[in-house]
Amino acid sequence: MNVATKARLDVVQLSPHIGAEIRHLDLRETRDPSTVEAIHQAWLEHTVILFRNQELSQEDLLRVTGYFGEVGKLSRPPEFFPKGYSRLLPNIMMISNIRENGETIGALPDGEMMYHHDMIHAAIPHYATLLYSMEIPSYGGDTLFASGYAAYEKLDPAIRTKLEGRNAVHHYNYGSTQRGDNRGVAAHGESVHPVFRTHDETGRKAIYVNRLMTAGIVDMPPEESEPLLNAVFDHSEKPEFVYAHVWRKGDLLIWDNRCSMHARTDFPADQRRLMLRTTIKGNERPR
Ligand code: SIN
Repeated sequence: MNVATKARLDVVQLSPHIGAEIRHLDLRETRDPSTVEAIHQAWLEHTVILFRNQELSQEDLLRVTGYFGEVGKLSRPPEFFPKGYSRLLPNIMMISNIRENGETIGALPDGEMMYHHDMIHAAIPHYATLLYSMEIPSYGGDTLFASGYAAYEKLDPAIRTKLEGRNAVHHYNYGSTQRGDNRGVAAHGESVHPVFRTHDETGRKAIYVNRLMTAGIVDMPPEESEPLLNAVFDHSEKPEFVYAHVWRKGDLLIWDNRCSMHARTDFPADQRRLMLRTTIKGNERPR
């Protein structure tokens, strides 16, 4: 019997390779260690976990974040908060397109985002991200999660052999809509990580390159690496590896950045979207 069964979690798979919803849990009440451990195990198994209909305070969000590891520190303290909401607590980031006095009040404000692994540009990327929805547009702004495990397992062996043991370079490109944009390098530097990452808790291998932030393969000329990388991106983004999350207010999602990447679909610029985001700190360089 696995731990999730012992703690009697109601776990419903959301797609063949990635994503599960845990139902009938109010995270304001969930504190006993066996339930917390069962949630953690379900997350390792399914990579993305969804809880619907949550009414979390910022303190609740930070407590739940701590179920999965050490809460990640923000490089800048949160400064902004929209009218009608309280000031953000340390280590909570706001993702929002809301503007006050013409200025965006949150990070990653507008529209579509290409597939990426959060913080892959850092030497020790944060393991996981939690996102809690407070206001959502009437359509769009879906978050798409692709399983790096499944994509690795089904990757063309000829491509896999060429990239096995190789490292890739990554740039901070969050605000960008095109590959190869390296404007973030001056402020954030660049990182080098294995193309295929071994998950330190599950031991499984996953594809660890993405269209938004991966700039190239170390010691491989672009005329060779670009076609290979584009083939890996096209493969990894296939719908068969993806769970597309359509947000409702009160959803909490946690995803594992070690073995999945995510993207965002476009949404109406004149409709408000407001999410609170926390992360789990990483402990080691990807290997
Ligand atoms: C992100 O890429 O971290 C943001 C995802 C979203 O806004 O849905």
